[in-house]
Amino acid sequence: MKKKLTQIILSVIVSIMPFYSLSGQVIIPLPSQIVSAPGFFYFSGTTKIGSDESTRIPSYLQTYLKQRQTALNANGNANEIIFTLSNQGLSEGYELKISPNKIHVTGNDEKGLFYGIQSLIQFLQHQPLSNGSISIPCQTITDQPRFGYRGIMLDAGRYFQPVSYIKELLDMMATYKFNTFHWHLTEDQGWRVEIEKYPKLMSKSAWRSETVIGHHNQKPRVYDGEKHGGYYTKADIREIVAYASERNITVIPEIEMPGHATAAIAAYPELGCTGKTLEVPTDWGVKEDVYCPSEATFTFLEDVLTEIIPLFPSPYIHIGGDECPKKQWKESALAQSVMKREGLKDEDALQSYFIKRMEAFLKTKGKKLIGWDEILEGGLAPDATVMSWRGIKGGIEAAHLGHDVIMSPNTFCYFDYYQTDAPGEPLAIGGKLTVEKVYSFDPIPDELPAETHKHILGGQGNIWTEYISTLPKLRYMAYTRMLALSEVLWTPVAKKEFLPFAVRLNKHIDYWKTKNIEFANHLFEIKPTLTTKEIGLEVALTPFVPWGEIRYTLDGTEPKSTSAVYTNPLLLTKKTVVKTQSFVQNQAKGHPISIDFLPHKGLQAKILSKTTPSKTYKGAGERGLINGISGSKTQFNDGEWQGVTPGEPFSMKLSWTEKQSIKGIQFHAFNDPESWIYLPSEATIYTSQDGTTFSKACETKITENKDTKTLAVDIPCKITSQFIEIKTPAMGTIPVNRPGAGNQAWLFLDEIRVY
Ligand code: ACM
Repeated sequence: MKKKLTQIILSVIVSIMPFYSLSGQVIIPLPSQIVSAPGFFYFSGTTKIGSDESTRIPSYLQTYLKQRQTALNANGNANEIIFTLSNQGLSEGYELKISPNKIHVTGNDEKGLFYGIQSLIQFLQHQPLSNGSISIPCQTITDQPRFGYRGIMLDAGRYFQPVSYIKELLDMMATYKFNTFHWHLTEDQGWRVEIEKYPKLMSKSAWRSETVIGHHNQKPRVYDGEKHGGYYTKADIREIVAYASERNITVIPEIEMPGHATAAIAAYPELGCTGKTLEVPTDWGVKEDVYCPSEATFTFLEDVLTEIIPLFPSPYIHIGGDECPKKQWKESALAQSVMKREGLKDEDALQSYFIKRMEAFLKTKGKKLIGWDEILEGGLAPDATVMSWRGIKGGIEAAHLGHDVIMSPNTFCYFDYYQTDAPGEPLAIGGKLTVEKVYSFDPIPDELPAETHKHILGGQGNIWTEYISTLPKLRYMAYTRMLALSEVLWTPVAKKEFLPFAVRLNKHIDYWKTKNIEFANHLFEIKPTLTTKEIGLEVALTPFVPWGEIRYTLDGTEPKSTSAVYTNPLLLTKKTVVKTQSFVQNQAKGHPISIDFLPHKGLQAKILSKTTPSKTYKGAGERGLINGISGSKTQFNDGEWQGVTPGEPFSMKLSWTEKQSIKGIQFHAFNDPESWIYLPSEATIYTSQDGTTFSKACETKITENKDTKTLAVDIPCKITSQFIEIKTPAMGTIPVNRPGAGNQAWLFLDEIRVY
């Protein structure tokens, strides 16, 4: 109730005030405790900076503070900023005490001092100028992180990033108090680290001849014809590790095994199971060429790690472990002989043997092993830390087993997913992960008992780069969601609230824009809620965050600052296009959205029965299939498409108050085999006299269509009836040689138009 009330008050305030003047808070992640005091500290050209501890402050921060003074009042107040180390309290914690004459930054340790300065810098970046001084409201901040592991992963394998890009990412991480950079250095599509003992890793594995353009699922595939690649020399790595260390960031290298290894096998075919000559792949997806568990492979990997380990002071080495297809191991005499020799019951056990061997080796070098959650399959290595990416299930299992866990579920932490359904987004791998969803993440799931919480070390956002080849795209995809995650990992749960965060986030996005660093900003998006009414469709519009106003048109034109202001839900009774957009002080914000309503007889029908959709893909609610709105042509998780639980047939029975003269039914089915979504083989219409006994009226066979993502299936059927049923059979198992072979296929349906 309390939260609701504050939200209501806040939304009222937001709607009547210019959004940028809202809330005195600026810091992201929000500190644990803030106690306000009267007055301001005026930071100016005459503010004295320093103390004994200032020698411990990284020189780049001292330089920043001094530089910040150059454009400020040279005759300001006589005041000072001093720094102290208390050597007490939690590591990384600090106190920032702002009084009119003095700012006192006290670090519990050097890391804490570093973060205290980061908070101070955010004040300097975001507080307004007053007489040539930056006015910082007096307050005392007492702050420490919720989690000790606050990570960001960058995939250097799919695209090689120059050192300068990585430095920008590290700067951004430091500003928002992340402390771990997980560097994904080897992949099917590229090996990115210098290993002196194996020169072909640099001459061959680091390069691919070209790269697929557009989405990998798109057919036919088109390639750019340009050689891509590169690798980090040991000098580059030392430079990055030192740069990170100066920013309180530990770098954890990932050397992938036993899967995601095609680039290495392309240079050294003896590492694979087939001995075949391979090229470094030029497209994406999980590859079947994996390391064979031979002694030659173990020697190679130990040699590689022996060169890697001295470069990285991190206590951890990440060995990958995800997505290792077992087909080649099943077919390999060598792999089978290892299983026999070691008494391993299946290929999962062989993977477990592989990982355990690597862990034993890392231990001899004083390092601990991290792996993706597949390392649970076949049995965990004794002291492994699990990075849970396929949801949180693996993390929960590992914590129950007494292992440490880093939560990095794709459902909350994958920054390569789309950020919105709105059109015009740059190409992404798929899925949808809004900044709000990231913000709602809690790395400690409710179902985990208190005694296991200590095993959840923290969380991590992942920047997979199949579709992120440039720095501007990386910024667009990662930074907004990274700021949300920073608050998830730092701020006490009780203090987390999305709306106030969104207001601060908007300030930060605007600030970085002035530095030519463009974040994604979907904060001005509008969410439509559609409700079927007896005479049409009601459209309610809710802003993602409530500031400014929503304007709309009904004549197909783009909304302008003079268009109608939305106040109450709109009732659509005929074919209409609603176009709507947020405006703040007459400025258009965000993107316009369009709702295309096409009424049909189904809107007035009563649903007698309907197959319950899958829990994950519920679509637009009970009447979503007959609401007059069709699902996206490209995205099956847009909130309109309904997924039928695999293995179940689909049926929907409709009735009207009187007989209808029907000419046919048209429905849409999604067609995306790469996502295991297939077309149904047929669809049938039944009619009934009494709503109980139905008999077949019309049917249509559906043939596979490789070229379209959505297929409109038309079933002409001239009937006069008060009751109809539409049915499709259960989808069955995906045949061999098709994506997802052996699994149950999905069926996705949307708008079932009765015409
Ligand atoms: C992963 O996304 N394959 C860890």
